[in-house]
Amino acid sequence: MNQPRPLVAGNWKMNGLRASVSEAEALARRLEGNKTVETQVMICPPATLVALLAAALDGNSILIGGQDCHINPSGAHTGDIAAEMLADAGASAVIVGHSERRADHGETSKAVRAKAEAAYRAGLTAIICIGETEAQRKQGETLNVMSEQLSGSLPGAAVSGNTVIAYEPVWAIGTGLTPTLDDVGEVHQHIRTELTGRLGADEGAAMRILYGGSVKPGNAAELMAVENVNGALVGGASLKADDFWGIISVYSGR
Ligand code: 13P
Repeated sequence: MNQPRPLVAGNWKMNGLRASVSEAEALARRLEGNKTVETQVMICPPATLVALLAAALDGNSILIGGQDCHINPSGAHTGDIAAEMLADAGASAVIVGHSERRADHGETSKAVRAKAEAAYRAGLTAIICIGETEAQRKQGETLNVMSEQLSGSLPGAAVSGNTVIAYEPVWAIGTGLTPTLDDVGEVHQHIRTELTGRLGADEGAAMRILYGGSVKPGNAAELMAVENVNGALVGGASLKADDFWGIISVYSGR
């Protein structure tokens, strides 16, 4: 079975103004000039920039994703954004269940699953995030938490063509800390086993599992070389084209 095509996605979180479009354009020029890069590249800007980036990058290979969506296609939900709106603005994917949303907005795995289903309804790929807290890791609960979050968050209709899993240990996000390569390998293998058990050997092997949490140009090559790591979900280091390129290009010419 071939390895799935790697995906490196930048999650800009609540960062970026219209002037940030120039960073995305600089990245697009780098990609244009380096055809050996086999990575699929995505930027998930704040909702205010989705349409702008999609227009600026039109005709380019960079994909655009949202960072969250509501479960309904429309309605009286002040401040929320429907998956259909993201698709209409030019997104092809949406992150759901990021730990910052699970923590800041009390999102449960059940809610995350409903959001992933909303993404499918709108024709978007759902990037479903899971990850343990520091306390859970210290208690040796990491693999159990992964199983629980996966079974709670993954819709029955999930297949490799509509879903990407992102393993993001909560304690590694924005801290400069990363798990050991062995620990990353153990969790990704566990997720892979869960996926093949659920989806069958072929689909389970084809679904991409990203690693996220303090991925930088300096550690990307070793993290991306771990078995069952099929790319990265990058926060801080995706905001500057140079840094993000340093991560994307680890796949160049492999
Ligand atoms: P950092 O790369 O800033 O640690 O953030 C990771 C993340 O949360 C991506 O979704």
